[in-house]
Amino acid sequence: MQVEVNGRPVVYHAEGIGEPLVFIHAFPLNGEMWRPQIAELVEDYKTITFDLPGFGDSPPAKETSSMESYASTIAAILDDANVRQPAVFVGLSMGGYILFEFFRRFPERVRGLVLANTRAQPDTEESKQERERTARRVLQDGPGVVAESMLPKLLSPEASDDLRAQVRSMIMAASPEGIAGALRAMADRPDSQPTLADFNLPVLVIAGEQDGITPPADAEAMADEIAGSSLEVIEGAGHLSNLEQPHAFNAALRRYLDDLEEDERNAPNQPI
Ligand code: MLT
Repeated sequence: MQVEVNGRPVVYHAEGIGEPLVFIHAFPLNGEMWRPQIAELVEDYKTITFDLPGFGDSPPAKETSSMESYASTIAAILDDANVRQPAVFVGLSMGGYILFEFFRRFPERVRGLVLANTRAQPDTEESKQERERTARRVLQDGPGVVAESMLPKLLSPEASDDLRAQVRSMIMAASPEGIAGALRAMADRPDSQPTLADFNLPVLVIAGEQDGITPPADAEAMADEIAGSSLEVIEGAGHLSNLEQPHAFNAALRRYLDDLEEDERNAPNQPI
């Protein structure tokens, strides 16, 4: 399926029947990274995955990428998929950065949030500069630049060669423009720490025990700021915890979804 956003197609997949569950991918991957979650959850939910502009099968956007442009793209996908009711969103790393913006812009569309391997703080000056250097190199030399630099950081040392190859092929499917655009969008993203206090809905924070990009300490700090949130640390997982330990990740997601539904059933005056 695809929806046209500002004159360019954005590819998405809507599968299954039930309450909507929307997955936002990490940088520089694509919607395929959620395959282990969709395989299990599609039986009970309407799952939505997509390739943000410039990643996977979606061509780069015409406009400059930003957290705002990604958030509006997701709103356009949901409209096209006929998702009118509030949905549960799962965002990993950059997917989490985008979720903060999505919540600020479209709070009425959010029923619950799962913030995996992400952080609310903005980039430091040093990391902004590093992102700009990488963006320029990728535009010149292609996605292999980020595949080489990021692969060792995305997975724990114990990850299989097969998983490494899968992640590498997702990175190589991204366009240089998409990667550079996302690097600049992430560098420009605002501080989302003030937003944490506004989450008046159930939030699950997930960390990877061996995540060096967004360490468990960041997840703990974030969970501490979100009233009533729960935190799950996935053992034996690096940054891409959903791919490295899919059973543990899915179990955490299931527990959260079951609790959310139970809480809604027990709150008769709250709209579901
Ligand atoms: C991601 O996994 O989305 C990125 O590592 C996030 C980042 O570079 O800050």
